[in-house]
Amino acid sequence: MFAAERPSGSTREIYRELCLQARGLFEGERDAIANAANLTALLYGGLADVNWAGFYFLKAEELVLGPFQGRPACVRIPVGKGVCGTAAQRREAVVVTDIEKFPGHIACDAASRSEVVVPLLRNGRLLGVLDLDSPRRNRFNDDDRSGLETLAALWVERSAVA
Ligand code: SME
Repeated sequence: MFAAERPSGSTREIYRELCLQARGLFEGERDAIANAANLTALLYGGLADVNWAGFYFLKAEELVLGPFQGRPACVRIPVGKGVCGTAAQRREAVVVTDIEKFPGHIACDAASRSEVVVPLLRNGRLLGVLDLDSPRRNRFNDDDRSGLETLAALWVERSAVA
């Protein structure tokens, strides 16, 4: 059974703990969907003020919804559209402190106020993105970005994707 408490401490310490827990969850398992599902549950339960945590996978030049925690979300996002599509197009993380100030933001949950999206990259190839939403403005900073990039890289390394 997995019964971790919500990690506490500085943002860096929280992500260090989440990385340890993710390593534990991925141990001996290479299934990409199973590992993605567990990672979203870990992030959703382990981070304060997060109302959505999920994956979008790149399929035929579109991002398609994968495992997530939170309210039902838009299924398809074209590359270049919204925060997710922008991170996918740039192949780099995007931190949005106030979604009302991000032109083209795609509203899935009306409660969301800020967002961070990191790309999933294997040897430079884009596999998809990992997306977190918060009902609080300014929820995500550079330590969140860097912590999520580490978790995204861990998922890519540990999961077999066609
Ligand atoms: N807000 C995202 C869409 C995905 S949801 O937040 C789950 C965007 O603008 O790409």
